[in-house]
Amino acid sequence: MTETAGTQTSAFDANAIDARVFPPSARRGSQCEQLKIGEIRATELTEQFGSPLYVMDEQAARSKARAVREALQREARRVGTEATVYYATKAFLCVEVAKWMIEEGLALDVASGGELLVALAAGADPAQIGFHGNNKSVAEIERAVEVGVGTIILDSEIEIERVAAAAKAANKVQRVRLRVNSGVHASTHDFLATSHEDQKFGQPLAEATRIVGQILTHDSLDFVGLHCHIGSQIFATDGFRESARRLLGVYAELAALAGRPIPELNLGGGFGIAYTSEDADAAPDVAKIAAELADIVAAGAREYDLQIPKLAFEPGRSVIGQAGVTLYTVGTTKTVQLGGSDAEANPADVALAPQLGLTGAPSERLYVSVDGGMSDNARPALYGSDYHVRIANRVSTAAPALVRVVGKHCESGDIVVQRDVLPGDVQPGDTLAVAVTGAYCWALSSNYNYVPRPPVVAVRDGEARMIVRGETEEELLAKSV
Ligand SMILES: Cc1ncc(COP(=O)(O)O)c(C=O)c1O
Repeated sequence: MTETAGTQTSAFDANAIDARVFPPSARRGSQCEQLKIGEIRATELTEQFGSPLYVMDEQAARSKARAVREALQREARRVGTEATVYYATKAFLCVEVAKWMIEEGLALDVASGGELLVALAAGADPAQIGFHGNNKSVAEIERAVEVGVGTIILDSEIEIERVAAAAKAANKVQRVRLRVNSGVHASTHDFLATSHEDQKFGQPLAEATRIVGQILTHDSLDFVGLHCHIGSQIFATDGFRESARRLLGVYAELAALAGRPIPELNLGGGFGIAYTSEDADAAPDVAKIAAELADIVAAGAREYDLQIPKLAFEPGRSVIGQAGVTLYTVGTTKTVQLGGSDAEANPADVALAPQLGLTGAPSERLYVSVDGGMSDNARPALYGSDYHVRIANRVSTAAPALVRVVGKHCESGDIVVQRDVLPGDVQPGDTLAVAVTGAYCWALSSNYNYVPRPPVVAVRDGEARMIVRGETEEELLAKSV
């Protein structure tokens, strides 16, 4: 690599496995120096199950699910209430993972008839399921009511009539929440509070009293509280504080309307996680976030002189994200000259200069093409997300290089890892491991370019088993009529 502003020796180890992003079991074997996950070598996994491959560390998923649930429930108890923790299945769902979540004491949040189907197939107690969606079909609503889903989250006024009719026809009383927009949008590091929400989910908070009044006219509906999900990948609790304060601000009014306290408050999910080493120190600790949320709700209840409602949360990525690793095989590489000065260079590239042993902007980028891409991980293309990558099949002492890992699809936005640092001799045939792919990767996967979806393999204590089948060429062909 040439550079624009001189070199210095980099003490950075581009082979190191960062335990803040990879699952806790991920480490290099002492003999083979290969990355192992759940005590199994990466290449053993790709030899047995193919490449690309989603790998799910069962212990990591289970212990995170347990830790998140325990923290939220412990802190709710500390302030004198209770909490139900729903796993947001949209992040990743198959029968096996749903079973892990149920065994770890989590309820399940589903957002479609399909997710409901899988949750039930996993043996979930229907009473422990929450059903979301801004456009649930009548058939989905009828099925949810019929199987006894614990709570349906009403998203629109039209839905009130649909759910009430389904419950009446089934001779049941259906527990419902109303999804509202508190006007607070949270993003990774800050939040934005507005009075209007120009988006499809939920109803404006200012309309909540009127709409709850409508819900209360139906004997077949049991209104249990408001629901608000302020966003995803949230790093600070300020947004939750403002949102909870706004929601509790209408609880006294709702209680007066209902003639009873409103028993529950669902604050949604969205707890942020680190996807890259650079983000690792800023990512919130779940225990800390749980303590802050409990205090926020207790303070809000005090402010409005309310009994603290029972709490509900719906974390997805913070439960399953870090348990997942995707293995890819490198097909081609090429070096692109960047040629820019420090001023022209991308600041995120420049930030990696110390790892590259440079004192200024990198002048080259090594493009590394792998055998998957936006069909197995749409998040970089959808959200501009970044990921962390390591060579899994070996270690190397080659000088570090600025890399961009790209897929095999016909889109220039087909990027898996925007920027990271790998040994510069990364080459065709190498196995790459991309960390934190447990959430919203398989779930958002597609067949773009007729690339078959890879399987998902669970690893634990030296054993690997397929928990989601990959697609075959026959299945791809069978789509055409
Ligand atoms: C209503 C609702 N609840 C929970 C979640 C889960 O969010 P996360 O995976 O960021 O925790 C989402 C994500 O979109 C959501 O829309």
